[in-house]
Amino acid sequence: MSENFSSSFLRTLSGEIVYPRPIWLMRQAGRYLPEYRATREQAGGFLDLCYNSELAAEVTLQPIRRFHFDAAILFADILLIPHALGQDVQFQKGEGPVLDPIKNLDILDINRVETHLAPVGETLRRLKRDLPPETALIGFAGAPWTVATYMIEGQGSKDHLATRACAYQYPIFFAELLHLLSEATLRYLTMQVEAGAQAVQIFDSWAGSATADGFDNWVIEPTRVIVEGLRERFPDLPIIGFARGAGEKLAAYAQGTGVDCVGLDYSLNPKWVDDHLPEGLCVQGNLDPALLIAGGVAMEAAVHNILKAFKNRPHIFNLGHGIVPQTPIEHVVHLIKLVRDYAG
Ligand code: CP3
Repeated sequence: MSENFSSSFLRTLSGEIVYPRPIWLMRQAGRYLPEYRATREQAGGFLDLCYNSELAAEVTLQPIRRFHFDAAILFADILLIPHALGQDVQFQKGEGPVLDPIKNLDILDINRVETHLAPVGETLRRLKRDLPPETALIGFAGAPWTVATYMIEGQGSKDHLATRACAYQYPIFFAELLHLLSEATLRYLTMQVEAGAQAVQIFDSWAGSATADGFDNWVIEPTRVIVEGLRERFPDLPIIGFARGAGEKLAAYAQGTGVDCVGLDYSLNPKWVDDHLPEGLCVQGNLDPALLIAGGVAMEAAVHNILKAFKNRPHIFNLGHGIVPQTPIEHVVHLIKLVRDYAG
């Protein structure tokens, strides 16, 4: 309990309106930092970096040392779950992830999750030891729907046509896959909290590809199962849900899943969000990562617009999607100063 009082991030998640607004950035450890690129080179492949606890902890700490963000996010990837379950997953340079598309659930073994992902627990224990006490530690996982799109398509996709076709053509297979992923993710996040994560974020990056009915069954329900399971084990754990592309379904997502805080993508108008979400619900977001490339007055105006729109509710400042490699480091420094200088 006492640790919550030193963290503006955790206080915000528990419902307090805090100034300056806590800030961290999705993908804050990454290729825009030369020190990340150097450690990545040292590790070998991307998955080697994820499973190397010492180096994964190091890249998690790099943006904290440089920028003093209010929270550190575990360095790992949402595709470690399919890998742990037994699917072939590879990251090829410049190409993004490539998986052997799943046709049969028999190849997946849920009992491998804790042993295969033990190095991630070790990364968190190192971070707990090495992070400054005022910096909160966030664990994460992908939501079942988003992870399922990669497992079925075998790669990134824009419209997830094969995934939706599969959901209609093989409804039992698809329901069982989502169920298995919910269970595996619950075990994985449980392990992360036991290893020191103080909050968790569930990334549903492709929620926007679900249909209206699909949104309830594919996005909300599997996430609700994970939230409910975590609540049983850790009643005070703050949970952030990031359903990118949820649009007008955002309030239904917040209510249906039971998350404590909703992540906002950059397509959402902050004023619209404030008008349409329940009073007091915590939000996180939502600067366009392209504005962080642009910097200058365009970025300043957007930052103030976001801060102003959310002045009456708990708000964690973040981007509306991950930071991209071409982002100038000095723009990140400027963004943090803008947010910390804003007095409400
Ligand atoms: O700093 C952090 O935010 C923590 C680490 C983190 C990574 N991926 C590291 C990473 C987190 C939270 C993720 C989440 C993730 N991974 C998501 C959800 C968020 C989102 O961006 O929508 C998704 C969809 C993935 C899957 C994934 N991982 C893809 C599609 C790619 C390739 C695209 C790219 O940016 O290269 C990755 C690779 C990846 N994951 C990198 C990093 C730093 C870049 C890999 C490299 O170093 O070459």
